[in-house]
Amino acid sequence: MAESFDGDWLDLREPFDAAARDPGLAVRLAQALPARPRLLDLGAGTGSLLRWMGHFIGRAQAWTLVDADAGLIERAFETIADRAEAAGWGVTFPGKRTLLVHSPRGAWRVEGLVADLREAPDNLPLHAVDAVVNTALCDLVSEGWVERMAAACAARRLPFYAALNVTGRERFAPPHPGDALVARGFARDQARDKGFSGIALGAKAPAAIAAAFGAQGYEVLRAPSDWVVPRTAPRMALELAEGHARAARAHERRLEGRIARWVLDRTTQARDLRLSARVGHADLLCLPPPR
Ligand SMILES: C[S@@+](CC[C@H](N)C(=O)[O-])C[C@H]1O[C@@H](n2cnc3c(N)ncnc32)[C@H](O)[C@@H]1O
Repeated sequence: MAESFDGDWLDLREPFDAAARDPGLAVRLAQALPARPRLLDLGAGTGSLLRWMGHFIGRAQAWTLVDADAGLIERAFETIADRAEAAGWGVTFPGKRTLLVHSPRGAWRVEGLVADLREAPDNLPLHAVDAVVNTALCDLVSEGWVERMAAACAARRLPFYAALNVTGRERFAPPHPGDALVARGFARDQARDKGFSGIALGAKAPAAIAAAFGAQGYEVLRAPSDWVVPRTAPRMALELAEGHARAARAHERRLEGRIARWVLDRTTQARDLRLSARVGHADLLCLPPPR
């Protein structure tokens, strides 16, 4: 079964993702694309990458949102339509499974594809797109998966953009004696096999992407995209702390009591607006070599 993700969590993280993403790489990708680009968003969730990247592309564009979770794709359509209408943009549905957002600088066509990415790239319509993009996906996949994706993209000279890959550098403040234990358990959980034919890359994703696409002759651009969670964002800080503790608990069973203490203290700090966090991420843009 594919790893499942909660839509409310994806919504909660969207503004932090948007603030963290590197605009320079988005501009470079937009410049590398044709007049009306077609983008394939892998593990699209509720469509937050489209809502951010669409503005950088700034012209008519078509997106295919790929996810194993049909409920998330449905929610993506609703959220994209709601946000467009809130901005005063028209929204139409030319087909049952197609959404058109009438932005002032051209229409954004959106379609969904329910597919299991463990089968990728074989089950993807790479022949019908101009770029493969994703956010917070590559830490779940294996090295072999990235290598197969790099070979498939290279065969069609497709740019590959992977945003918000964890780097393994996360810090909660103020410091707590349980931090190292929780970080160790969290790192172990990230390296769990998530079904992509091998252990998950976790913090090794940026290096694995760079190596696989570099080996295909791609230019690889990298920029930091850390989440910065201030004390004034207690919901996000607490969700992060609870997520870390949940993951750590599965791998540090003997020390469960210490993890419970840690999460209790972090909960109190979040409620008192004293908990902040920084989570290391990197954005990567891989561009095919000039002809
Ligand atoms: C961390 S979430 C990121 C979602 C979205 N890109 C974002 O940034 O908000 C990972 C996404 O990958 C999807 N996913 C995980 N495993 C998958 C698989 N095997 N096949 C297809 N989608 C998968 C999840 O449903 C989820 O939407």
